[in-house]
Amino acid sequence: MRNDPGLQAANYTLRDEIRDYWSARAATFDQSPGHEIFSEEERKAWHGLIEKHLGPGEERAALDLASGTGVISHLMDDLGYRVTGIDWSENMLDLARSKAKTRGRSIRFQLGDAERTLAPDDSFDVIVTRHLVWTLVDPQACFKEWYRILKPGGRLLVIDGDFVNTGFLERVVKRVDALLQKAGWLSPQPVHAPAGLADTHRSILSRVHFSNGARAEAVGRLLADSGFSVLSTDHDLRRIHRAQAAYLGRFKALARGLQHRYAIVAEKPVTASRPL
Ligand SMILES: C[S@@+](CC[C@H](N)C(=O)[O-])C[C@H]1O[C@@H](n2cnc3c(N)ncnc32)[C@H](O)[C@@H]1O
Repeated sequence: MRNDPGLQAANYTLRDEIRDYWSARAATFDQSPGHEIFSEEERKAWHGLIEKHLGPGEERAALDLASGTGVISHLMDDLGYRVTGIDWSENMLDLARSKAKTRGRSIRFQLGDAERTLAPDDSFDVIVTRHLVWTLVDPQACFKEWYRILKPGGRLLVIDGDFVNTGFLERVVKRVDALLQKAGWLSPQPVHAPAGLADTHRSILSRVHFSNGARAEAVGRLLADSGFSVLSTDHDLRRIHRAQAAYLGRFKALARGLQHRYAIVAEKPVTASRPL
C-alpha cells in the first residue's frame, strides 16, 4: 500500500513540487547575477540595505529563512550577526554548507520549513528572508510562525518583489534588449536555469498564494494581520541594481530597477500579544 504509485502521486503536494523545483535549481543557482554576489560594490550595497533596516549585528541572533545557497546568511555574518539559515531543500543546504566551509564561516544551516520552523518562541533578534514570500503556499501561516519565533522588539526584513506584473517601461526595455541581442549588437545573456524548468515554474506560480504577484501592500497587510507593526517599505534598491549591472547586463539591470521590488521592515511589538 505504502509504495502504491497512485497513492504517492496523490500525496505529492504543491509544497513538494516547490521544494523539488528549488532542489533542481540548486546546482546552477549561484551562477546567476542577482542570486550570488559578484562584486565588492554589490556586497557593500547589500550591507548598506541590511544595516539601514536591521542595524549592526553585534552578535545578535539572526535567522535567514529559505537561505538557499546562503547568500544572505553570509551578508548577515559579515555584519556580525550569529546566523542560522533554514531551507527545506537538501541540495540547497549542501551547497550552503560547503560554501560556508570554504569561506571559513560558522553559519548553521538546518533543514526546515519556513511555515513550521520548530524554533522555540521568542528565539531570534532578527529574521531576514529574500525571494521566499512570492512562492509561499500559505503566507499567513508563515507570518504567524515568524511572529512567534521573533523576540519582542525584534525586526523582520522581507526582500521580495512582484515578478508577475510587468510595467510598460519594463516591457519596452526588455524588448529593446531582445532586439539588440537579435541584431548581434549585444551578446545574449547566459541562461543558468536547467532547461525544462520554465514550465514547472509557470505551473507553480499559477497556484501559489501570490499568483497575481506579491505586491508590497498586500504582503504588508498580511504581516499586520499576523501581529507585526510594519515600519517601512523601501523601494530604493538602486545601489544594488547599479552594482549588478556589470554582470547582469545594462538592460536587465535597468529592467530590474523598473520592477516592483522592495524591502519591508516589520517589528514584533515590545508588548507583543500572542499570535492572532
Ligand atoms: C529564490 S530561492 C532564494 C534563496 C535565498 N533566500 C536567496 O535569496 O539567495 C528560494 C528558496 O526558498 C526555499 N523555500 C521555498 N519555500 C520554502 C519553505 N516553505 N521552507 C523552507 N524553504 C523554502 C527554496 O528551497 C529555495 O532555496
